[in-house]
Amino acid sequence: MTRHFLRDDDLTPDEQAEVLALAALVKAQPFAFRPLEGPRGVGVIFDKNSTRTRFSFEVGIAQLGGHAVVVDGRTTQLGREETLEDTGRVLSRFVDAVVWRTFGQDRLEALSSTATVPVVNALSDEFHPCQVLADLQTIIEQKGSPSGLKMTYLGDGANNMAHSLGLGGVTAGMHVTISAPEGFQPDPAIIADTERRAAETGGSVHLVTDPVEAVTGADVLVTDTWVSMGQEEDGRDRTAPFRPYQINDELLAHAADDAIVLHCLPAHRGDEITASVIDGPRSVVFDEAENRLHAQKALLIWLLEHQ
Ligand code: CP
Ligand code: NVA
Repeated sequence: MTRHFLRDDDLTPDEQAEVLALAALVKAQPFAFRPLEGPRGVGVIFDKNSTRTRFSFEVGIAQLGGHAVVVDGRTTQLGREETLEDTGRVLSRFVDAVVWRTFGQDRLEALSSTATVPVVNALSDEFHPCQVLADLQTIIEQKGSPSGLKMTYLGDGANNMAHSLGLGGVTAGMHVTISAPEGFQPDPAIIADTERRAAETGGSVHLVTDPVEAVTGADVLVTDTWVSMGQEEDGRDRTAPFRPYQINDELLAHAADDAIVLHCLPAHRGDEITASVIDGPRSVVFDEAENRLHAQKALLIWLLEHQ
């Protein structure tokens, strides 16, 4: 059966560990893996802006011996209402995998329902699982095994990063705290799934509104933009409620002495994080960005081997 990666729990804990171990090998030997030799094609479709995801997939697919067909979704027939199900069938005749950045998770589910090649979520409104594989690779590089570490995410608890850090983090056995203001809490259904996954791994997920309490003793701090793509005109105040959740030197002082700071980027210095933190000694954000390349190559290798 074709395996897809639409959300973080599409990999079991053991499978996630396999992909992360492979990501380290791929990083050490970037040109040693050629599963797409031919070149075989991979469709990479963007319905939203991207810098890291676009470059890392296009370069990564080339390094795997393949050819990335990178397109703006609006210029395809999807922009003229061809059905997602027909698109899944058609693309499967041309390419060996489909990577798609889009809006609702339901769109990924519809396209993957007919695809006979792996479909990878390159960010949806609900999840950003490729990012969290890179985040976990970065955590492993800095701290060794992620199992048992405390990771605190601050900011918009209802966005894709909050959901994926929770689900992907507990899959790795982490204790994840999500700290968000009232009205910006995670989707309860996703938290229920996260708790179920945590029960398998010994990890945990906690919602803690007070940011100081949330970061106390944390090994890993993470934040993200307060305004995700598609939310620019949603009419909500996305500044004032989030101010207490900014990662700054004062808040960082409550974390563990050797805490590291992650941000998926793009960052807004002075909003969700200060320049002194993101450009300071605890920040690993550019290693994290680089690891998108290695983690996604590992994911593609793994998915192509497990069809
Ligand atoms: N972090 C991330 O996904 O970046 P892009 O939006 O630039 O792809
Ligand atoms: N939450 C952000 C992540 C960007 C990589 C967004 O969806 O815009």
